[in-house]
Amino acid sequence: MILAAGQGTRMKSPLPKVLHLAAGAPLITWAIEAARDAGADDIVLVVGHAREAVIDAVRARFGDAVRFAVQAEQRGTADAVRAGMAAVRDDVTEVVITYGDVPCVPADALAQLSALRQSQKALLSLITTEVDDPTGYGRIVRDGRGHPVAIREHKDCTPEERKIRSVNPGLYAVDRAFLALALSSISSDNAQGEFYLTDLVALAARASKEGVAELPWEPLSLRGVNDRADLAAVEATLHARTADRHRRAGSTVAAGALIDRDVTIEPGVTLGPGVILRGRTTLASGATVDVGCVLEDAHVAGGATLKPYCVVTRSEVGVGATLGPFAHLRPESAVGDGAHVGNFVELKKTRLGPGAKANHLAYIGDGVIGARANIGAGTIFCNYDGFQKHTTTVGEGAFVGSNSSLVAPVTIGRDAYVGSGSVVTKDVPDEALAVGRARQENKLGYGARLRARLAAAKQALLSAAATTKPGH
Ligand code: UD1
Ligand code: CA
Repeated sequence: MILAAGQGTRMKSPLPKVLHLAAGAPLITWAIEAARDAGADDIVLVVGHAREAVIDAVRARFGDAVRFAVQAEQRGTADAVRAGMAAVRDDVTEVVITYGDVPCVPADALAQLSALRQSQKALLSLITTEVDDPTGYGRIVRDGRGHPVAIREHKDCTPEERKIRSVNPGLYAVDRAFLALALSSISSDNAQGEFYLTDLVALAARASKEGVAELPWEPLSLRGVNDRADLAAVEATLHARTADRHRRAGSTVAAGALIDRDVTIEPGVTLGPGVILRGRTTLASGATVDVGCVLEDAHVAGGATLKPYCVVTRSEVGVGATLGPFAHLRPESAVGDGAHVGNFVELKKTRLGPGAKANHLAYIGDGVIGARANIGAGTIFCNYDGFQKHTTTVGEGAFVGSNSSLVAPVTIGRDAYVGSGSVVTKDVPDEALAVGRARQENKLGYGARLRARLAAAKQALLSAAATTKPGH
């Protein structure tokens, strides 16, 4: 059961807190995935504030795998669980309770929490952690043997209790029958007038000698998000963890590379500093993505090299292809095997055939370019007439000379040539040479004649000025 009904006022955002992104996924996605990975066979999400948006986002990713319970009014964590119980299946014997705004909890912690409770036959197990500054947390109150016997909320603590640095991160595994019974006895008789879920601990401790089992955990994974500073901190933790996972699997990931949640990387990939991988990007073994590249929903094949500062969005890069530095692949582009896209080249919805090259300063939009074709420096595909986009087709082995404009729709034939500086408005047949520019003419000796004429004109101007203003 994941609690996510709270408002998250301190985010100062119209977006519900649990839908804020950390490392490429909403906070709630991290919480749900952890529960799934821990082996939860049924997941109930308790929603309240902005529930329509939260439900839509969760359904979009998880379909029917997550069920929802509504807590209409936020009257405390015990009230939230009470609302959630309405959706818990009858055959469930244990409920593990987590928060939707605590995204770094590893699945392993949840699995251990449940295993511990069952092995110790406790009514409840909880994770505890030590923090330097316990302000705001519920404190773990212990008996003479050091066993947890209660959680005291910050606002209800005595000055002595406030000094306790062992705190409650809010994760519990609870026997279902005990939970149902205990919830009915929790009151809101406390400093905040809320129904505290934390009262369960005292109830379990009182019910039996081994009522409460404790699983200590390190605090970094348990950090909750209340404001955007917390959000940045958990994102750093998630990114660091993801980078380490890929390093351990056999990829070189430089410091400062940021890999989002749904990115897939085969072992044997090299990522330079400052690389950002987003969305459902996939990188095959042997791919190299150098400094500062930003990839979103990109698919990079083995042996491809992205030199520094390429931007690739919803596009594919083929086996052994080379991009950049400073290349831009806009959506629906595909660079064929062994093809080259050089600096300051922009592709939009363009297929570049195997071994084709566009090495410098070109705009290639809505293009279909055959194998081994060469697109010269400064070539522009004029694909837009202000109303519609049109396709330019360049045949296999064709050579488009520098600084040409190909006015779409137009087709350049196989093995054809386009002379530099041409404006091509008509199809070019296979093997033809198209020259679409003014013919060059050389006027012999013209330089000296021109200089003489210009010098004479300047002299005439100066003489005229001298006669109209004598003495000056
Ligand atoms: C709670 C714990 C506290 C613990 C802290 C850890 C209680 C009484 N206190 O305090 O011991 O140290 O978490 O962060 O449980 N929520 C609902 N409905 C509600 C209230 C809360 O769904 O009516 C959800 C929130 O969306 C959030 C979570 O429960 O995800 C925690 O709520 P929050 O108000 O932050 O609890 P704290 O007062 O911080
Ligand atoms: Ca909180």
